[in-house]
Amino acid sequence: MSYYVVQGGQTLRGSVPISGAKNSVLPILAATLLNGGRNVLHNCPDLRDVRSAIQILEHLGCKVSREGDTVTVDSTVVDRWDVPHELMREMRSSVIFLGPILARCGRARLSLPGGCDIGQRPIDLHLSALRKLGAVIREQGGDILCEASDLQGRDIILSFPSVGATENTLLTATACGGVTRIINAAREPEITDLQEFLRKAGALVLGGGESAITVSGSTPRRDVEHTILPDRIEAATFLCAAAACGGEVTLTGAEPEHVGTVIQCLRDAGCTVRSAGRTITLLAPKRLGSMPTVRTMPYPGFPTDSQAPLMAAACTAQGSALFIETIFENRFRHAAELQRMGADIRISGRTALVTGRQLHGARVRSTDLRGGAALVVAALAAQGESRVEALTHIDRGYEHFAEKLIALGASIRRVDD
Ligand code: EPZ
Repeated sequence: MSYYVVQGGQTLRGSVPISGAKNSVLPILAATLLNGGRNVLHNCPDLRDVRSAIQILEHLGCKVSREGDTVTVDSTVVDRWDVPHELMREMRSSVIFLGPILARCGRARLSLPGGCDIGQRPIDLHLSALRKLGAVIREQGGDILCEASDLQGRDIILSFPSVGATENTLLTATACGGVTRIINAAREPEITDLQEFLRKAGALVLGGGESAITVSGSTPRRDVEHTILPDRIEAATFLCAAAACGGEVTLTGAEPEHVGTVIQCLRDAGCTVRSAGRTITLLAPKRLGSMPTVRTMPYPGFPTDSQAPLMAAACTAQGSALFIETIFENRFRHAAELQRMGADIRISGRTALVTGRQLHGARVRSTDLRGGAALVVAALAAQGESRVEALTHIDRGYEHFAEKLIALGASIRRVDD
C-alpha cells in the first residue's frame, strides 16, 4: 500500500508547472482511433488513467510510443473492437472508447465501466444518443454489444449536459451520414479541445464550448499534431493548497479563464490573485476568510472536481462556507476523513456546512481522486503529521503531485510498501 507522510504547517512559496488535462487527453486518445493515421499529442501527463487508455489503444492494434510528454499514436491498424474487462474496470472514462470503436469498426464490445465511486454514474445518455444515431445496442452478461451498419446524423437532445455523453456522441457523429446536432451539449473546455483535435483530423465540427454542437459527417482522415490544454482541476488544487497553507504560489502553463469560478471563491476568502497570459499568482492571507455558497454546476459553473480541494481549504478558514453538490450524489465522502483531522463539517443530503478551525494531523484514507487531493491539501495546512493512504486514487489524476508540492516547500514523502 502506498501513502504520503505529510508534516503540516509549511507555507508554500514558488512556482509550479501545470500538466496537460487528464480529462482532455483521455477522450483525445480515444479519438485517435478515428483517422487511421499518425497522431502526435504534446503535453500528455503521465498518469495511471492515461496509461490505461494507452493500453486500450494497444489492445485494439494501435502502435503507441511516449517520449517525454509527447505521445504518438499510430492507428493505421485497428484489428480488435473490444475493451478488456480489466481495463474497463480501471477507469470510468474507458466508456469514451465506445463511440470511436463503433465509428471505426462498425461494432464494439465493452463491459460496464469502473472509476471513482462518487455516485451511480449511469451511461444511459451515452447509449440513448448512440441508439438515435443508428447503433443497435444490447447487453449480454455485463457486456455492452454495439453494432452500427448505417449510422445517420440527426438531432440529439441531451437531458443533462453530460461531459462523457457529449464526447461519445460527438465522436460517433463523425462516422454518421448527414448532420448531427448535439443540443444541450456540455461546454467544458475539454470538449472544445476535443473538437479542436477532430477539426485538425479533418472532421467538420462547429460549436465546441457552446451548448449546440454540429457535426457534418465526414470521416476524419488527416494526421494530427495537437497540444493538450492545461489541467484546470490540477491548477485549482494547487491554488487551494496555497490558499490553505499561506504564502505565494505562481502556476505556470495554466489557463486562468478555466479556473475563474475557483479564483473568485479564493478572492472572496481574502486571497489576492493575479493572472497574466498563462500564469496565475496567488498570494494568501494569514488565514482565509469565509466564502460565499459554493454550488457545483456544469461549466462555466463551479466544477464538481474542485469541490473537495476547496472544501479542504475552507476547513482551515475563519468563518464558514456552504457547499452544494449538484452533479454527483455521493461526492462528500472526503468529509468524514477531513473530520478525522478535526474539521467541522455538517452534511445534510447534498449540502455541507463547513466551519473553519485549526486542523490537526491524522491518519486518513483517499476516497476518490479529488477527495484524495483534498486530504493532502488539509494535511499540508494541519498542525502535526498526517498519513494519507490509498494513493492509487491520486495517481489516476495528478502528475508528480508530491514532487511539485515539495518544490513549493511542502514537507511530504511518499512511501510505497
Ligand atoms: C467527467 O465525467 C469527468 N471525467 C469527471 O471528472 C467530472 O467530474 C465530470 O465530467 C463532471 O464535470 C472525465 O472527463 C474523464 P458527466 P463524466 O457525464 O463524463 C449523470 C475527475 O475527478 N449522467 O458529465 O462521467 C452522472 O451520473 C472526474 O477527474 C447520467 O445520469 O460526467 C452525473 O450525475 C471524476 N447518465 C452527471 O450526469 C449518463 O449517461 C454528470 O456526469 C451520463 C451522466
